[in-house]
Amino acid sequence: MLDDQVIISPSEAPVSEPERQLFYIERCREMLIESGLLSEEKKLTYHISTFGCQMNFRDSEKLAGVLESIGYERVDDEKADLVLYNTCTVRENASTRVYGRIGYVGKIKKEKNPSMVIGICGCMMQEPDEVEKMKKSYSFIDIIFGTHNSYKIAELLYTLLINRKAKEKKPSLKTHVIDVQKEATGIVEDLPVRYDSTFRAGVNIMYGCDNFCTYCIVPYVRGRERSRKSCDIIREVEDLASRGVKEIMLLGQNVNSYGKGLDEGITFAALLDRLSDIKGIKRLRFMTSHPKDLSDDIIDVMSRKETICRHIHLPLQSGSSRLLKKMNRHYTKEDFLTLVRKLRAAMPDIAITTDIIVGFPGETEEDFKETLDVCEEVSFDSAFTFIYSKRTGTPAAAFPDQVPEDVVKERFDRLLKVIARSSAANASRLTGTDRDVLVETVGHTGDNGETRPGDVSEVDDGAVTALTGRLGNNLLVHFEGKRSLVGEIVRVHIDECKDFYYLGSLVK
Ligand code: SAH
Ligand code: SF4
Ligand code: F3S
Repeated sequence: MLDDQVIISPSEAPVSEPERQLFYIERCREMLIESGLLSEEKKLTYHISTFGCQMNFRDSEKLAGVLESIGYERVDDEKADLVLYNTCTVRENASTRVYGRIGYVGKIKKEKNPSMVIGICGCMMQEPDEVEKMKKSYSFIDIIFGTHNSYKIAELLYTLLINRKAKEKKPSLKTHVIDVQKEATGIVEDLPVRYDSTFRAGVNIMYGCDNFCTYCIVPYVRGRERSRKSCDIIREVEDLASRGVKEIMLLGQNVNSYGKGLDEGITFAALLDRLSDIKGIKRLRFMTSHPKDLSDDIIDVMSRKETICRHIHLPLQSGSSRLLKKMNRHYTKEDFLTLVRKLRAAMPDIAITTDIIVGFPGETEEDFKETLDVCEEVSFDSAFTFIYSKRTGTPAAAFPDQVPEDVVKERFDRLLKVIARSSAANASRLTGTDRDVLVETVGHTGDNGETRPGDVSEVDDGAVTALTGRLGNNLLVHFEGKRSLVGEIVRVHIDECKDFYYLGSLVK
């Protein structure tokens, strides 16, 4: 908090959560109605722009839940009464993109809607230097908060509204609200959530990360690892199932170490076992698995339970044991290959995807060849490939021998070719088979960015249109069907493989 602002807490506000935030949701609503900004005829709108990983998207659903409870309605662009940027800082380009958007929204506020509320939150705001930069260069930002207290959005908005009211009488007052918590306090359950989809949902099972891979900023901005109690997770998944959700993605930076620190003595394998039996849930996925914590029990439960997708995202990062040690990953090239062998022995059809960093400090041609070697041997179904990005405050930022840009670029291109080859080869194996598909959208939107809009009329006239659905291996398939199938699991014959997606036809 800053010295030039006061966080106002009405004395009657409950001290415990979620009661406190539910109280502030009501107070915000009352204030907006009293000031004539919100009424039956007059709606207030909000827009949230989310950067980064699934964790952030999940947080945005929670922010949206609170805002909608206050009375805001969602719109798809920044021409809104309240705009939030939920930021990411994992690589430099993630931060650069945020700055571009902020410049844009500042212009809208200045030219079109001076009373607009602009908020910035998320991982970038856990970095003190970034908060300073925002404060100095972007005075139009009204609310800044971090990852640990995003549940407090109603309280922060209320403070802003009070400050704005006070400013009417005393124009010299500063109204902005800055509240970034250095460390996480407990997990706040039971606040309203607005799920983006009616048939798939992400569910946090843990927060934070304790692994401190030397290149990674996540442990610094997301805090120490903490698991949610299994009863809270089960309750949430049961509730989602009762609302018709078919696919659940369990989220955590290292889901395999779920349960650490909980009194109940539960493991990730046991949690998966419990969740996979919940009626109505047809597909269970999880992300991300750290290779060092992928136990035999997890592989066993995956192979036994039909509902758990035959897909694992298992970040390799590098194929060189020497570099893996410098990255603090706690496994070797051989350990990784052994895991892959175990997974394939238990589930021959499993899709394995990965993350790879190219150009980690000190990466030699020999190290890089080891990475290519693992990729050839594993034959990944797909990979997110990243050019190493120096993050201030991480140990690797101070490592000598940062790899020259042209060398990194050349290696990156070589890696892409190897990955493209294995992805296409694996994908093509399904040609001619029938698969279960969760229908996601009307229209043909492929992972390759190709869009072929179908009939997007609002009315469901029962006509056949273009549909896109997802297979258990996470790839998309385009086929024809009625729009009422969106959200359903259907059987689709895979007619043709287009390397990164399929063309299929509905099995009648
Ligand atoms: N917890 C997950 C990943 C979270 S970040 C895990 O351990 O697998 C997602 C990916 O971003 C990482 O797997 C890594 O490949 C990449 N990444 C993280 N920090 C990076 C950096 N400084 N430069 C380039 N890529 C990075
Ligand atoms: Fe980052 Fe490593 Fe934690 Fe993943 S496991 S979030 S890469 S520190
Ligand atoms: Fe980015 Fe934060 Fe996720 S830094 S990758 S949004 S945990």
